[in-house]
Amino acid sequence: MDVNFRIFRFDPQVDKEPGYRNYTVSAEPWDRILDCLNKIRWEQDGTLGYRMSCAHGVCGSDGMRINGKCALACQKLVKDYPGGEIVVEPLPHFKVLKDLIVDVDGFLSTIKVLHPHLVDPESPPEQERLQSPDDRRKIDDVIRCILCACCTASCPVLAENPKYIGPAALVWAYRFIHDSRDGRYTERLKQINDHDGVWPCVNYFECTRVCPKGIPVTKSINQLKREIQKAFPERSE
Ligand code: SF4
Ligand code: FES
Repeated sequence: MDVNFRIFRFDPQVDKEPGYRNYTVSAEPWDRILDCLNKIRWEQDGTLGYRMSCAHGVCGSDGMRINGKCALACQKLVKDYPGGEIVVEPLPHFKVLKDLIVDVDGFLSTIKVLHPHLVDPESPPEQERLQSPDDRRKIDDVIRCILCACCTASCPVLAENPKYIGPAALVWAYRFIHDSRDGRYTERLKQINDHDGVWPCVNYFECTRVCPKGIPVTKSINQLKREIQKAFPERSE
């Protein structure tokens, strides 16, 4: 069948204004949106810019907005978008580098500030750092994050407060705060106990709805708030 795509196009090196270009692709209902973008680039318009790598929901590089919802193009199928036209746009709140490619440097730097690695003030053990299956289960959900940025791009709070660190950063904070091998529980809680840290979240749940890995993002943020209130009853923002 023929599927109509309306795709956001903008090359800041060449274009004065962003715009949309239409393409018709011959596709099956179970073809992925990424397959259709590949067909467009390979067969119709080699100038179309987008990121992809694994094509199997692992690398997180092809997050984009499809018919108004952020998603991975490699996880969504043509049949997920009945209704004649599929509109593809870059992730909102991010600077467009070209077409569907956005600048994720700021997004990654925010996470880097949270020390997204194990920090243990004790001297290293002679062998590996052991973790019990029960302790591992505490981070089972959040450890699935692939940094696709769909949650942060979808967050309505960020539209109003660009300084908010956003749901993805809080998922990474949660991941290390609850890792039994990490030694910075209190410092990590302190770091996100800020008016641009955990507190701007007001439970829109959009992050949870769009997360392609099924991470309970909002629930994790609420859990962090409760732990901060417990750890610093007088000092929570
Ligand atoms: Fe993507 Fe989910 Fe991680 Fe957000 S929490 S960056 S939506 S995988
Ligand atoms: Fe890697 Fe989609 S291309 S997650």
